[in-house]
Amino acid sequence: MTRYKPIFILFAVAFLCATIAFAAGDAAKGKEVYTKVCQKCHAADGKGNPAIAKSLKVELKALGSAEVQKKSDDELKKLSLGPTDKKKPVKGVTPAQLDDVISFIRTMK
Ligand code: HEC
Repeated sequence: MTRYKPIFILFAVAFLCATIAFAAGDAAKGKEVYTKVCQKCHAADGKGNPAIAKSLKVELKALGSAEVQKKSDDELKKLSLGPTDKKKPVKGVTPAQLDDVISFIRTMK
């Protein structure tokens, strides 16, 4: 069995890397989801659509700002889908798509 140890370790490492890469989400796919679902309110650059901000009487923080970026992925996920005081729940986004969107938001900083 010891003969196979290095190979086993190699597989374990490869598996771990693949899992981490998967968990971190895919920013390119996230951009597609963002464009379809989030852009109408948050604008293509994440700085917020002024018309939406005005009609909801809310300040849409730039998603690339330090204030938003310092939040954890879990916090961002909650805020992304809502509901919050001012934000209705966003529907039709799967957990995997949400991971991708968060990765995309991380590229805005
Ligand atoms: C119908 C409009 C609308 C859509 C669609 C929408 N949001 Fe939001 N989002 C808001 C509003 C309004 C707020 C501010 C909420 C508040 O202050 O209570 C907000 C807040 C946020 C925040 C927190 C930033 C802050 O201002 O503190 C993040 C992150 C976010 N949205 C991400 C997303 C993502 C990602 C999507 C797409 C999956 C999305 N949103 C779709 C309206 C929207």
